[in-house]
Amino acid sequence: MNKTLGCIGCGNMGSAILRGLAKRDDLNLMGYNPSPAKTEALAADIDRFVIARSAREVAQRSDYIILGVKPYLIGDVLAEIAGDLTPDKVVISVAAGVSVAALQKGADARCAVVRCMPNTPAMVGEGIFAMCYEDAQLPESQQDAISDLFGTIGTVMVLPETKFGAFTATAGCGPAYVFHFMEAVIEAAVTVGFTRKDAADMVIQLFKGSVKLAEESGQHISVLRESVCSPGGVTIAAVNHLDRTAVRGNIIDAILTARERDREMSK
Ligand SMILES: NC(=O)c1ccc[n+]([C@@H]2O[C@H](COP(=O)([O-])OP(=O)(O)OC[C@H]3O[C@@H](n4cnc5c(N)ncnc54)[C@H](OP(=O)(O)O)[C@@H]3O)[C@@H](O)[C@H]2O)c1
Repeated sequence: MNKTLGCIGCGNMGSAILRGLAKRDDLNLMGYNPSPAKTEALAADIDRFVIARSAREVAQRSDYIILGVKPYLIGDVLAEIAGDLTPDKVVISVAAGVSVAALQKGADARCAVVRCMPNTPAMVGEGIFAMCYEDAQLPESQQDAISDLFGTIGTVMVLPETKFGAFTATAGCGPAYVFHFMEAVIEAAVTVGFTRKDAADMVIQLFKGSVKLAEESGQHISVLRESVCSPGGVTIAAVNHLDRTAVRGNIIDAILTARERDREMSK
């Protein structure tokens, strides 16, 4: 490929994407961040990483320009770099709630824009990335190249923009739901006598092993759950309690609440 990917705003998500993409030896990487410590840390860890002096330098020298700033800064950053955008470049925004139309407007339609919604496991190369390729300026060959890039650091789902709110409420917010459940199991383990360290180690392996089983067994999640619940046994007693207290219904309602909140915030 031999392209340059530059990131404007190298905070949690920008740095995670750059660090993950560092394993691609066909890609030159650069980044700009106002406080230099973050780009200096990236340069220390990634051989081919160039520290840019400004957002404009990133825009001028990159084929793919990732916007890793907070959503409220996207308009300002695009206004700053719009003059440097040319039709061969692609702007990829990871900002929550910023639409393709807003990105096109900010970029003055000078190049194609892509809306991407990541989640935090991207930081360890296991993210899920929703990609919206609805900008008519984006050729199919570029769509494939961008999916291939993000496929290096997780799973790519190409979605219509209308599905982004639903994706955010499930996979975008999802790590918080999983960690919430993990915390609860850790508290229970401590309550029944394990040290915090043992409880945390045990719960991390519990989740890891269960995910691996779900991935590799080829069986539906419901069948896997049933297989732990022997008739008249210990597990079914606990699962009955979860059902009586509507844990499943509450999780569904939590995600629907997140979906609603995303709708309100996108207005
Ligand atoms: N973290 C997540 O779970 C997550 C999930 C999905 C989507 N996102 C999206 O990812 C984006 C970044 O989130 P984050 O969690 O990575 O935030 P973050 O850690 O605060 O990173 C934002 C970075 O932008 C830099 N910045 C501020 N003003 C700038 C400017 N004018 N030009 C260039 N860089 C500038 C900040 O630098 P300073 O530190 O020097 O101010 C900071 O390093 C957001 O739009 C968010 O919606 C995040």
